[in-house]
Amino acid sequence: MSDSALTNNQSASVAREQWSSRLVFILAATGSAVGLGNIWKFPYITGENGGGAFVLIYLLCIASIGIPIMMAEIMLGRRGRQDPVTTMKKLAKESGHSRSWGLLGWMGVIAGFLILSYYSVIAGWAMAYVPRMASGMFSGLEAAGVNSVFSDLVSNPESLIAWHTLFLIMTMVVVARGVRGGLEKAVTYLMPLLFVLLIILIVYAMGTGHFKEGFAYLFNPDFSKITTEGILSAMGHAFFTLSLGMGAIMVYGSYLPPDTSIAKVSIAVAFMDTLVALMAGMIIFPIVFANALEPSSGPGLIFKTLPLAFGGMNYGTLFGTLFFILLVFAAWTSSISLIEPAITWGMKTFQTSRIKTSVISGLLVWFLGLFTVFSFNLTSDFTFSSTISTKYGEFVILKDATAFDFLDYLTSNIMLPLGGLMIAVYAGWLMKKEYSLAELNINRIWFTIWLFLVRFVAPIMVIIVFLNAMGVVAFIRTIMGV
Ligand code: TRP
Repeated sequence: MSDSALTNNQSASVAREQWSSRLVFILAATGSAVGLGNIWKFPYITGENGGGAFVLIYLLCIASIGIPIMMAEIMLGRRGRQDPVTTMKKLAKESGHSRSWGLLGWMGVIAGFLILSYYSVIAGWAMAYVPRMASGMFSGLEAAGVNSVFSDLVSNPESLIAWHTLFLIMTMVVVARGVRGGLEKAVTYLMPLLFVLLIILIVYAMGTGHFKEGFAYLFNPDFSKITTEGILSAMGHAFFTLSLGMGAIMVYGSYLPPDTSIAKVSIAVAFMDTLVALMAGMIIFPIVFANALEPSSGPGLIFKTLPLAFGGMNYGTLFGTLFFILLVFAAWTSSISLIEPAITWGMKTFQTSRIKTSVISGLLVWFLGLFTVFSFNLTSDFTFSSTISTKYGEFVILKDATAFDFLDYLTSNIMLPLGGLMIAVYAGWLMKKEYSLAELNINRIWFTIWLFLVRFVAPIMVIIVFLNAMGVVAFIRTIMGV
């Protein structure tokens, strides 16, 4: 972090850097939240889960689980002012609870590694599209041609490894130098630019003649299309897209000055993140329908649709190149936050330098990333399914899952919600109310609402969605005859 962005807090026992202002924190947290999750993942999982009903559940989860848990996570971070493991141990001690709360931090460190391993591969795809766009390869291409550009890319492991390596080096260099200032400043200009490009794309989508259809697909809920697995994904994605449940926002919160309103920044970040995702959806689906593509075509969705748009518009080569560059930047600011908890924890635990910790973590993530790389080519036939079939119905846990699908499922659908659940329980039930009230510093009514959400709504919803996905809810309903 640059000196201008941060000031040293000399009074803390460990000199702790702090964000210089609320704006810098919002930028950094938005930088973490807005990433591939919004533009790449949200549209394709929406398509896989049938549209509107999925989106509605996702929005509900953002409002009732995401925002309160984000407030809780920032609050714990600011109070602990350490890496997630140490923060949780310290807070637990302060309120007289078991030090095993450190496990929460641990799970976050592991989840960060796992997510970054595939995140970096996908960010590599986005990078690979920059020269492809710039060369004008897509101008005038039809859907079939655009599809084959994508399948040529992902069927080539060497090329995927090269881009994965490049992206990971970019991430680890920033992390190792510990100077995010430059990048955060860049984001000040690049995020609004990304926004402008999204608006240009929406205008294009309106001209496809299928905007209404795409819009209805996103916002007209058809509950017959949603599965228990879809509900779990919607909730998992709410955590993923807001960077919650693994300590990333906790570490960012630990740099937040004491007088900043946690509630306001949480709402601002969640709002911007959701806006970007919905805009991406409004762009992708009209293009999907205009070109008779499959909404459920999976992780390649944006790579098969957006080039069609750029290929068919004025200045498409320019806008397309710019768009993928900005997408890479958005992914970059997110990937840094995925590994930051592990770095702060590693430095402290092994008493080593930031550089050494970064190099070792980078190598580890790189190797893990190979699983994802090969999921799309060499080992793409190596899939497994896991269903629980009971007389109350079939419960699909995983269907024809590759290593990538498995990693994504394990992290987004299980580890993040579990981490979020623990954060909610800790902040709502175990932390002394005087502490949480002092940290949040909001009036009684809002505090009571927040407390109700983290004590009851968020934990109960997470637990029900888990049980639902495991078939327990159907079981109980059958027994009770409802
Ligand atoms: N939220 C980011 C995205 O939408 C990804 C991300 C960054 C993340 N940090 C995280 C996800 C921490 C989970 C936890 O692309």
